[in-house]
Amino acid sequence: MLKGKRIYLRPVERDDLARYVKWLNDETVNAHLTTFIPMNLDDEVEWYENQRHDSSTLNLAIVITTEEKHIGSVGLMKIQPRNQSAELGIVIGDKECWGQGYGQEAIERLVEFAFKQLNLNRIYLRVDAHHPAAKRCYEKSGFVEEGRLRSAGFRHGQFHDQFVMSILRSEYNN
Ligand SMILES: CC(C)(COP(=O)(O)OP(=O)(O)OC[C@H]1O[C@@H](n2cnc3c(N)ncnc32)[C@H](O)[C@@H]1OP(=O)(O)O)[C@@H](O)C(=O)NCCC(=O)NCCS
Repeated sequence: MLKGKRIYLRPVERDDLARYVKWLNDETVNAHLTTFIPMNLDDEVEWYENQRHDSSTLNLAIVITTEEKHIGSVGLMKIQPRNQSAELGIVIGDKECWGQGYGQEAIERLVEFAFKQLNLNRIYLRVDAHHPAAKRCYEKSGFVEEGRLRSAGFRHGQFHDQFVMSILRSEYNN
């Protein structure tokens, strides 16, 4: 368990998977995710089994401690030992929990673990230029904008820009 102030991060369990299917099929939740093709429980079980045996990924469930309520997940992909880098992704599937700082808290806790326990040096991510809530959440968590990828994403018939953001261990203060 990675304990935060109001949330903790734990491994994803099989019993969680039905919730991910519901969340990831919600167009409001998946609007800015790479996972946007309609999926079923079999797809999610396949993802779960694959990532369990993939040492380059780490996916953790976000749980509100007081209510023991699972609200989403945060993880690292493309963990590269040589470069000491990884790409961060986050989904808070329970929309009632948006805008309450849970995203920031989950990211900060995972970043701490990545720098202090996994010995990573750089954590980066991509975010749609027209996703200000996510960009703000990442900025609050210490990520800085590195650059703009022109027309890097395609959704709803249009290409759109994305930002690359990152945090380096040398910028991490805690
Ligand atoms: C993006 C996401 C992780 C953010 O998590 P969260 O818990 O809602 O984020 P936080 O509450 O920590 O921070 C959100 C910030 O954005 C701000 N915000 C919300 N809507 C905004 C908008 N339209 N414009 C600018 N800022 C906005 C909030 O006010 C808050 O900032 P504040 O604390 O300074 O007030 C969450 O909304 C989510 O999982 N969305 C669906 C999946 C997704 O898009 N993932 C990210 C893909 S890059």
